[in-house]
Amino acid sequence: MRKLVCLTSLLFLFAVGTYAQMAQTAQTAKKSLYERLGGEAAISAVVDDFAQRVLADPRINQKFAKSNAPRLLYFLKQQICAATGGPCKYQGRDMKTAHKNMGITNGEFNALVEDLVATLNKFNVPKPEQDELLAILAPMRSQMVEVQSDATGTPLPANFKPAPPLPEKKIKEGPFPKKKGSMKSAKRR
Ligand code: HEM
Repeated sequence: MRKLVCLTSLLFLFAVGTYAQMAQTAQTAKKSLYERLGGEAAISAVVDDFAQRVLADPRINQKFAKSNAPRLLYFLKQQICAATGGPCKYQGRDMKTAHKNMGITNGEFNALVEDLVATLNKFNVPKPEQDELLAILAPMRSQMVEVQSDATGTPLPANFKPAPPLPEKKIKEGPFPKKKGSMKSAKRR
């Protein structure tokens, strides 16, 4: 009889353990890429590091010479937040319009992706999440590349017109939606 009770208890414990594990697996699977990347703070830090890398990369930095950096960072963060299932709505221009007349080559697009991977590695983003993010960005290639060539470091064509800067207020508010209760906590301070 005691043996039977012990066996039943063991089976019960095993079942509870298995159930807990299944529940945790289901929860991890349900998490968006946005959450798995670390949300707002992590995406913001990743984009800042990536932008520094791009601006220091002679293979592509000429393309950014006329552009407004705060605007670019704002929309890049918002776009990645939205595309990875985060709470943002991308409000920038479509990718074809934004990259028009820049003369971006295939080689330059690849260079930018290499810079992004270097940043993701620096932040220890696991390979599955890196691959998921790159798979979201890869289909955009044809909207940006205007020159089918492996060349890098090509100059920015004279007819490229950069977008105007965003209002200071918008930049201050940032690209992510306000968190609930943030007004209250701001008032309390
Ligand atoms: C998957 C790859 C890329 C993504 C997701 C991306 C995303 C963006 C976004 C969201 C904007 C802001 C749009 C706006 O101002 O309304 C932008 C602008 C810009 N991008 Fe990209 N981009 C990519 C590839 C590239 C490449 C390969 C280059 C050059 C080598 C480049 C150079 C620029 C520049 C210079 C601007 C500023 C445009 C302006 O001042 O009007 N981008 N990009």
